[in-house]
Formats: sequence, C-alpha cells, structure tokens
Amino acid sequence: MSAAPAEFDASPLRAGSPEHKQLLARFFFATHLEYDPERIAWPELSAAELKRLAALPFWQEAVSTENVTAHTVTAAAALESDPQLRRAIELQGFEEQRHARLLAALTAHYHIPITFPAPYQPRNLESDFLFAGFGECFDSFFALGLFALARESGFFPAALVALFDPVMDEEVRHILFFVNWVKARRVALPRWKRPAFRLRCAWIIVKQIAARVRTARSLGGVPPASGENFTLTAHQDIAASVTLHGLLARCLLENDRRMARYDARLLRPRLVPDIARALYRILPHSL
Ligand SMILES: [Fe+2]
Ligand SMILES: [Fe+2]
Repeated sequence: MSAAPAEFDASPLRAGSPEHKQLLARFFFATHLEYDPERIAWPELSAAELKRLAALPFWQEAVSTENVTAHTVTAAAALESDPQLRRAIELQGFEEQRHARLLAALTAHYHIPITFPAPYQPRNLESDFLFAGFGECFDSFFALGLFALARESGFFPAALVALFDPVMDEEVRHILFFVNWVKARRVALPRWKRPAFRLRCAWIIVKQIAARVRTARSLGGVPPASGENFTLTAHQDIAASVTLHGLLARCLLENDRRMARYDARLLRPRLVPDIARALYRILPHSL
C-alpha cells in the first residue's frame, strides 16, 4: 500500500462509526468532478485512428454494463438510512449514468453503431448493489492498468485519453466508497446476522471470480459469447504485446497510485489487488 499523503490524519476510524460514515460521504462529495458529456469537444481522429477505435469489440458491452450499474446504484440509494450516505450513493448513480452518456456521446460522434438497452430494473436492491460493486472492484482494477498501457502505447490519441482520465478516477472513487460502505453495512447488523452477510458477499465474489476465470481461459481462444468482463478481454486489443504478468504489474502500480490520493483513514479494496499480487508471484513472466 502506498504511503498516505501527509495532509491526511491516518489514525484509524472504526468502520461504521459516525466519524467513518461522515468521512466517507465527505470524501465522495469533495472528489466529485464536474463535466458534461454532451458538451465535450471530441478530438479529430485520423482515418486509421477512427478505424482502430471503431474496431474495439467492447463498446456494446461497456454501454450495457454502465446501464445496469447506473440503474442498480441509483435504486440502491433507498437502502441507506444515513442521509449523507444516501446522497453519496445517488451521486454515484448520477456518475454511472454520466458514464453511459459519455459512451453514447463518443459512439454517436465517431459513428460507432451501438444498440441502447432498455433501462435495467434491479430485482433485489442490496444483492444487485453488492454484485455491481464487487464487479466494479474487478473491472476498475483491470481498467486502470489497461488505460495506462493504452496511454503509453499511443493506441488512443492523447486528446482522447485525457478525456477519459476522469472516468478512471471516478471508478476508483466508486470502489473505495463501496468497500467502506459494505463494511459499515455489515457492522451495523446485529452480530448474529453478520456471518450470513459475509457469506452472501463471499458467494457474490466467487461468482465474479468464476466469470473472470472463464474470460481468462478464453483469452487466446474464442472470446466469451456474452462479451462479459470487457476490461479483461480488452487487453488483447489494446496491449497485445504485454504479457498477463506485465498487465498485473501495471494494474497494481496504477491502483496504488490513484488510491493514494484519497484519505488514508478510508479502507482500501484489498481482495482484487491481493489476488493480482498472488498471480503476479506465481505466473511465469512469459505468460
Ligand atoms: Fe462506470
Ligand atoms: Fe463505477
């Protein structure tokens, strides 16, 4: 874990305490970014750049994922009794919706054909929010490394990369908020209910890992029919020459770099970086 920036008081806070909840909401509001996807001046691309951009296979999946996440998160605000945290979840819902708008604006501007799905209707507020949140913990982690590799390889023009940099920060904020919220939610439960909550979270994480293993096994072979986990499959398109070992190293570095900007008293997502670190140690460098 990176050292905490000096301006933060790193004394630990008890998860779920009023101070922790207040800090969580405050951090989220204070780091919200203002931008309007419909007012973006999209950079002019050469014919070759345009072709490369349009050929990326994940636009449809990205739009579908943001649609599900945006509606899930927005609806999940109703789960929260703390007014500040409820507002923070609503703001996250707005940001996810803005990601969908950003993708809509980009694909419209560059004439990339996309079908917009019907608004997603969450079935169970808490389970859907947990599923989306743990999914983001995986997707955002891989997206950070891929984004850095794409920036350095020149796969995307610099002007386009700069436009998407705030989205990376937003996803980091979302998973940071999420892991703190989950912990606060668990400790607010009566003791006897906590093991069941842990089990539900573990089961959701297992399902998310299984989906990633399916995707990883398909790398180099037939891509998954559903196009799920697009941040993992995107590796083949954006940084084909980088090994999985190299990608993991980059993801870990970027995760630490971007997370270090936020208050050190907030819990950090640990599971996905720990898995990545373990894989980094055991995988051969050539893979
Ligand atoms: Fe998003
Ligand atoms: Fe997000």
